[in-house]
Amino acid sequence: MASMGLAPAEAQTAVTRASFTPPRPGHLIDRVSGHHKVLVLGAGPAGLVTAYELLKGGYDVQILEARSRPGGRVWTARNGVGETDLNGETQLCEFSEGHFYNVGATRIPQHHISLDYCRELGVELLAFGNQNANTVVHYSGDTPLNNTSITYRQAKADTFGYVSELLAKAVGRGALDDELSQADKDALSEFLSDFGDLSSDGRYAGSSRAGYSGPPPGAGTAYGDQLEANALSDVIRSGIGRNFSFDFGYDQAMMMYSPVGGMDTIYYRMAEAIGAHRITYGAEVTGFSTGDNGVNPWVTYTSQGFEQKAEADYVVCALPPHLVLKLKHDLPQDLVTALGAAVPASAGKLGIEYSRRWWEEDQWIYGGASNTDMDISQIMFPYDHYQSDRGVVVGYYNTGEKHQKFEGLPHAQRLAMALDQGAKIHGDVYRDDITSSFSGSLMKTKYSEGAWVDWKGAHSHSHNDTPEYRRALEPVGRMYFAGDHLSNAIAWMHGALESGRNAVTAIHERVAVGG
Ligand code: FAD
Ligand code: ALA
Repeated sequence: MASMGLAPAEAQTAVTRASFTPPRPGHLIDRVSGHHKVLVLGAGPAGLVTAYELLKGGYDVQILEARSRPGGRVWTARNGVGETDLNGETQLCEFSEGHFYNVGATRIPQHHISLDYCRELGVELLAFGNQNANTVVHYSGDTPLNNTSITYRQAKADTFGYVSELLAKAVGRGALDDELSQADKDALSEFLSDFGDLSSDGRYAGSSRAGYSGPPPGAGTAYGDQLEANALSDVIRSGIGRNFSFDFGYDQAMMMYSPVGGMDTIYYRMAEAIGAHRITYGAEVTGFSTGDNGVNPWVTYTSQGFEQKAEADYVVCALPPHLVLKLKHDLPQDLVTALGAAVPASAGKLGIEYSRRWWEEDQWIYGGASNTDMDISQIMFPYDHYQSDRGVVVGYYNTGEKHQKFEGLPHAQRLAMALDQGAKIHGDVYRDDITSSFSGSLMKTKYSEGAWVDWKGAHSHSHNDTPEYRRALEPVGRMYFAGDHLSNAIAWMHGALESGRNAVTAIHERVAVGG
């Protein structure tokens, strides 16, 4: 195994994920001896990375992909992209040349292996904004701060200010004396004074952090009036702080990144590195057998109208689990039951191209998102082509019940709803200068039929320790499974890539020991 790169030569230890640390060319494995054919089902991130890493090791790899493009749920809407959804409606994206939005994956945190593959494949990155002081919150309620738009900058100044004041008061009145020493209290008071921008008497009386009326000063003019603090009770009851913690999340923390030109660039590059002759697009897998006595697995698929059969030494099935269950198969019942516990979820986006970047010109918004409790959930501003003459705004990115209100509608109605709600947030300008739009609902998208899955009974997408999840991780004979659903980073490319790498490791280990 050491000679094949599966374990450090000096230690001669068994392979573990810790010893599997690509991506660097040639880092994963030395070249395997003999001929080993691996058939990979699906050219999403999991299938592509499986093929890409196996090829480095000298395996004979073929990919079958139903769509005419790589990337799967990494789906970028740009000029010429078309899709007929499962509602039967066909949309053709007519954005101007070079402009795009990512219907699926759009942001990458700094610790995800997705960025390592960008480096390896020479994919240039742009900063992606999850947080912007100049975007707004707009939530329903019965305070003067509800049903109106307030900048994040003002909402944060008031919320952090009052929370700091209240905690400082509690400390000052001895309410936390059981928990804190005098030294602790002094240090906490100092922190709160700074965190909340409190005045010398420990009160929050407004802050320049909230901003000013009017534009920034010129050489001979002063700042406008500092925005006054809103009333404590209104700030608390309005719920304007409800989304502040979003980018405290491990995977959503700034800085975040996205490829120049669209997320699918990563997978077009990976497909190019694998080689066009190794990928059959338009090949819809219709069934498979895990083989006789665990060997000689085979797959049936349709290509150009013909039913075909392909055999291999190993198969890696990198299709979404709910779609696997729709195929003809001979999977054992316990695995069928396990896969049934992976429940697909709704999500989708709608992109609107404007011929004027009003959000930059009129509202000083460069990237980031505005948030609302209306059905659209959020409006995401482009992080590409700053200050050009046009750009694509994501008019909604919503999930679950909120997205379900859109996914059954024709595109024109989705757009109308998005514009009604967006105009309430950013004003009538939201309806002007629209040149085209394009929407995608993953539940209504062929070959996806879901944005991601939730494992029944799992704690979260990053804690999938259920019996069904563990069962689904196991191969059947020489058939292996991969996909973000088989990771603790569901709904992230990282999960799909790591899962594919796990399949590569497992196959390579087996081949190394003559299995
Ligand atoms: P898929 O991408 O679904 O690939 C499966 C492949 O199988 C597809 O190419 C499909 O066409 C093919 N296929 C299906 N059926 C057949 C068949 N019968 N025969 C042949 N081929 C078939 N990740 C991030 O890192 N950052 C993000 O910001 C992010 N945001 C997201 C937002 C949305 C709305 C969605 C939907 C996903 C997002 N993700 C994000 C997650 C990311 O897109 C997925 O984790 C990743 O695409 C999963 O890869 P996969 O290979 O497991 O599956
Ligand atoms: N990982 C996905 C996102 O960041 C769900 O939007």
